[in-house]
Formats: sequence, C-alpha cells, structure tokens
Amino acid sequence: MPRHLSGIQPSGLPHLGNYFGAIAQHVAVSTTADAAQQDALFFIADLHALTSVHDRAVLEENVRSIAATYVALGLDTERAVFFRQSDIPEVTELLWLFLTVTGMGLLERAHSYKDKVARGLHASAGLFTYPVLMAADIVIYDADIVPVGHDQIQHVEMAQDMVTHFNTTYGGEFLKRPDWRLSPTPKVPGTDGAKMSKSYNNAIWIFDEGKSLKKSVNAIVTDSRLPEEPKDPDGINAYALLELFLDEAERADWRARIQKGGVGYGHLKGALMEKMDARFGQARGAYQELMRAEAGQRRLEDTLARGAAAARPLAQATLARCFDAVGMGNAGRRLRRS
Ligand code: ADP
Ligand code: TRP
Repeated sequence: MPRHLSGIQPSGLPHLGNYFGAIAQHVAVSTTADAAQQDALFFIADLHALTSVHDRAVLEENVRSIAATYVALGLDTERAVFFRQSDIPEVTELLWLFLTVTGMGLLERAHSYKDKVARGLHASAGLFTYPVLMAADIVIYDADIVPVGHDQIQHVEMAQDMVTHFNTTYGGEFLKRPDWRLSPTPKVPGTDGAKMSKSYNNAIWIFDEGKSLKKSVNAIVTDSRLPEEPKDPDGINAYALLELFLDEAERADWRARIQKGGVGYGHLKGALMEKMDARFGQARGAYQELMRAEAGQRRLEDTLARGAAAARPLAQATLARCFDAVGMGNAGRRLRRS
C-alpha cells in the first residue's frame, strides 16, 4: 500500500472531531499496514506544540496523553511506526532547507495562521513557519498519503508546493509529492454547530464520562420544536453527532423516525451518550490505566523509542539526498556514515 503518514499535536485531550476527522483513520490504516514496508507512520508533533504550549509539565503530560490515547484506541504499533517528532532531529534540518525555497507570500496565505492570530495567539516566527515544519515532517519520510481532517488540507497543499520548489530549484526529482486524504467525516460540528475545536469551547471529549459527559452533551444547541413535530434530520446538530456512530441500517431507521415526528432532542442526546459509552468505554479504561501506572508510562516510552529507531533511517536517507542536491554532499556523506 502507499505510505501513509500523519502527525497529531499534543495540545490537549482529543475530542469527537479529532477522533472522526483523524484518529479513527490512523488506527484503521495501522491495522492493515505492512511493518516491513513501513507503510504507516504516525507521530506526536511535539515541536509544533511549542507554538502554543510553553509549560514543560503541560507538554510532557500532553505527549503522554496523546500516546496513551492512540494505544488505548487500538493503534497497531507492531504494524505502524509510532514516534515522537522531536526524536528525529533531521526534520529541523530539512525545515531550514525548505525555508530557503519558500516564499513569504505562500505562508501569508495560510488560513490556519490567520485564524490563530485572529483568536489572539501570539504570532511567533514559529507559528508563521508552522507549515514549513509540517512539510518537512511529511516529505522526509517519502510519504504518499497524509490522512487528515479538513482544516489541514491547505497545509498538505503547501507541502506539495515546497516539494515542487525544491525539485525545480535544484533540478531533479529529489523529493516525493504527497497527497492529502480526508476521512468520511472530515468536518465534525461542535455543540454550537461550528467546527468542533478545543479552542472554541464547543468540544465533546471522547474519554469523558458520567456527569461531565452529560454536561457537554446537554450543551448541544437545539431549538424549541416539540418531539412530535416532523423534522429534517440534516438540520439537527445533535443528530449530526449521533450519526457519526450509526451503521447504514441504524441511520435509515433514525432518519425515518425523525422525519415522521416523535423524536425529541433529549432522546437524541441520550442515544449519543449511549453510543459514546459503547464505542469508547473500553478504551477509556485502557487510557486511564496507561496514564496512571508506572508500567503504562514505560510501555509508552518503549513504544515511542522503538518507533523513532524505525523512522530515523528514512529521514537520514532523505536528508542526505537533499544535502547532496544543494551542494553540501560532504555533510550528506557524514550523515550516511553515522
Ligand atoms: P483543534 O481544532 O481542536 O485544535 P487540531 O488542530 O489539533 O484540533 O486537529 C487534530 C486533527 O484533528 C487534525 O487532523 C484535524 O484536521 C482533525 N480535526 C480537528 N477538528 C476537527 C473537526 N471538527 N472535524 C474533523 N476533523 C477535525
Ligand atoms: N498540523 C497538524 C495538526 O494540527 C499536525 C501535524 C504536524 C501534521 N505535522 C504533520 C499532520 C504532518 C499531518 C502531517 O493537526
């Protein structure tokens, strides 16, 4: 299969948007990947997280939490390479080579940068050049396909542009052009109907339970129509969230009942909570165990170290090729020896 690669920032607990937009596809890809071909690589983008997290303890906790989330949700770490971005120092060297062939105009058009600045995030040079580091992340492992949510498409397209610039500047096919791939549910709405995001205060956390889960599900905005009124399922946010969990037959059944009349918003919210418990209950237990126990922490560290050892030679080979291309072949040869 083509080589799949994706990264996830350790910037807080995962919500339904992260799960259905990105994590679920990563886990699914990992279960059919061929380990010998290294055709699935997933990493924790801790260097990217430094654009928003400047607290050592918080960063460490978040990295652990994302690693535990993926393992608890069933990422097959025997078949897929699972590692930490900062364990591969070659990525930041490729970042510099890319920075020197990337126009300011390209970066100035980034929606994600503009959105983050509009929301008041400090506009550091790191935040501005975020897509260049992301391009280095993708290209250094010769990735073919990048499974992401809708908001990351532009970043992958920028990586395509950087590959083209690098290859034409140095006159050769040194780097592979990646493609993005969306999950079947690339735009999960939040409780207010806007895109679910941890920064919009509209998220439902996948491992939430009990009263706290009930509180966030109850926050899903509804109108005053009565249960018996026939409704269009496509206009109901609580149904859009429930539908993420439904198979074909269940979907047809719910849709017919909502259209006919007799389904209230409370009913939909209750069904959503049941589905969440059924889907995430077991993983939630595994997650809590991995986070709590010393042995859990060691297991995660071992897994990430093994992943880094598998990923690094790929990065070294690409970087050596690039150093050669720009006229620093000696550096490339030194690298190949180390
Ligand atoms: P957030 O917006 O909460 O900060 P991130 O930017 O960390 O989320 O996104 C992590 C991954 O989850 C990305 O691949 C992103 O495309 C995906 N994702 C985030 N929010 C959603 C959403 N509401 N629907 C679908 N995918 C999403
Ligand atoms: N920018 C991505 C996000 O916020 C995370 C990321 C970093 C990534 N490097 C990547 C995703 C490389 C795909 C490929 O979710």
